[in-house]
Amino acid sequence: MGRVQGKVALVTGGASGIGLSAASLMAREGAKVVIADYNVDAAKEAADIIKSQGGEAVGLFLDASQEDSIKEAVDYTVAEYKTLSVLFNNVGVTNLQKDLDVVHIDLDEWDRLMIVNTKSVLLGSRFAIPHMIEAGGGSIINTASMAAFAGDSVRSAYGASKAAVVNLTRYIAEQYGKDKIRCNAVAPGLILTPAAEKNMPAAVLDIFGKFNALPYHGEADDIGYTVLFLASDESKFITGQTIQVEGGHYMSNPSIVDFNQYMAQARS
Ligand SMILES: NC(=O)c1ccc[n+]([C@@H]2O[C@H](COP(=O)([O-])OP(=O)(O)OC[C@H]3O[C@@H](n4cnc5c(N)ncnc54)[C@H](O)[C@@H]3O)[C@@H](O)[C@H]2O)c1
Repeated sequence: MGRVQGKVALVTGGASGIGLSAASLMAREGAKVVIADYNVDAAKEAADIIKSQGGEAVGLFLDASQEDSIKEAVDYTVAEYKTLSVLFNNVGVTNLQKDLDVVHIDLDEWDRLMIVNTKSVLLGSRFAIPHMIEAGGGSIINTASMAAFAGDSVRSAYGASKAAVVNLTRYIAEQYGKDKIRCNAVAPGLILTPAAEKNMPAAVLDIFGKFNALPYHGEADDIGYTVLFLASDESKFITGQTIQVEGGHYMSNPSIVDFNQYMAQARS
């Protein structure tokens, strides 16, 4: 008996990185999985791999910036597998060239990130919830980011869009809890996915690694296992929460290093 045996999961952005990990782990633990992604070839390839390993999955085109496309993905899931138990709203994009500080940010990019990163969570949930109510409950999981909890010199839209995901998670949990629909989010720190490795030079990855409490980087499965737990009934009393999976990167007071140096000098 798998940890999510018999559940039906729709994973957006499921063809790569965090989404692919969650889709693969849920399939391994007995869920039927729809992998919905802009990169439909990669989504179908991922589904084929899952099937070759004895799991149940199908790949599907999704453009998470389009309301109709999100509705089609939900409808397809219910038509294919008769129900919808788990929705992993995972699509999210960033743009280091245009998403700058508040004075210089490209406003079209602000709008795009709010649509792809935040509105897609609203819409996925909006279309999935009636099916989950009919099924007697469900679990919605959203991908936020540690960028929701800290300021930065750039990426104003990304941080704001992910902070909105954190609170939208609470609103959905509050509004549909009595229907036995749970809604939680996962907030990854830096995770070595294809997107992160493409966007960040090795020297920048080293800087991030240096400030982790743990001596290693996060991997897609670190988030995938958290999603698996939130999708499963093991987490049946957890709702409205955002679980931070970030290696202790944001845990300590950043002034501590300078403070310790000051104390050492004061003692000598
Ligand atoms: N990797 C990290 O360090 C990190 C940190 C914090 C948060 N996140 C968040 O995790 C999520 C997944 O990121 P990842 O690192 O796995 O990225 P990734 O690029 O490896 O995977 C993202 C997937 O989403 C798909 N996609 C992109 N835009 C889409 C759209 N409009 N419609 C449908 N599919 C689309 C891509 O084709 C890709 O398969 C995102 O929400 C991201 O913001 C990642």
